[in-house]
Amino acid sequence: MSAGGFSGGPPEGAAADWTIPQGWSAYTAQEHATWVTLYERQAEVLPGRACEAFLKGLHALDLHGEGIPDFEQLSDKLERLTGWRVVAVPGLVPDEVFFDHLAHRRFPAGNFIRRADQLDYLQEPDVFHDVFGHVPMLTDPVFADYMQAYGKGGQRAMSMGRLRNLARLYWYTVEFGLLGTPEGLRIYGAGIVSSRTESVFCLEDPSPNRIGFDLERVMRTPYRIDDFQQVYFVVPSLDHLLEVTVSTDFAPLYDRLAGASDIPITAVQPDDRVFTRGTQAYAKAGGRLATAA
Ligand SMILES: [Fe+2]
Repeated sequence: MSAGGFSGGPPEGAAADWTIPQGWSAYTAQEHATWVTLYERQAEVLPGRACEAFLKGLHALDLHGEGIPDFEQLSDKLERLTGWRVVAVPGLVPDEVFFDHLAHRRFPAGNFIRRADQLDYLQEPDVFHDVFGHVPMLTDPVFADYMQAYGKGGQRAMSMGRLRNLARLYWYTVEFGLLGTPEGLRIYGAGIVSSRTESVFCLEDPSPNRIGFDLERVMRTPYRIDDFQQVYFVVPSLDHLLEVTVSTDFAPLYDRLAGASDIPITAVQPDDRVFTRGTQAYAKAGGRLATAA
């Protein structure tokens, strides 16, 4: 994940592209144990909720619950599948650095892990969110291409001043996306699959709206970073997501977006394809079971 507002270069000890050594041998037994705890919690809730591509990816990468993975070994497996590698970064990186990594099929992952008392909430994406949440989907050839296309699109959006809109696409797909399948809705978003509580909430709670994915609609919808989402967007397939992204001419789309208002987060539009119209009861009651993204 990237963040705006950075000035200057990388922090001390980081390379020009903000990468750092993962420092795998420096993880403590407690830190590995935190990974194991988080892994086991997700292993309980994800079968039947996460999409096939994610579960297949977990298996293909041998992401067992034995401790924090070594990025080199993980990258070697991932590279054989889809040409992606995982690189360590100190935390959030500037937008242009993030996009450049994605455009070159490198996924930047935080190398630190949350404290044992932060299992359900942390501000910045840690290694569990970044690796467990994001990397399995990168084993899927279609999703792998989508992530690279997003990186290239990010570079274009920056030059056109529409990053705010494009970031919403990332949020509602890569982080909090749902997939429609014949068996029902399934999760592919990393912000969800790395969160025990949101993995259940996003599919089963009556609060949020669940609406069919539409690129322009998504790009006009703000999101919240401090709590469960109030709306989730459902793609009919990963192929559709990739196809829409690579076939859209973003210049006229950004021109339209420049003159369009945001759609309130709880709104249902007349031409939305509504899967479930939420009660918003959770948000109205004050929410605050925050999740990492
Ligand atoms: Fe993320």
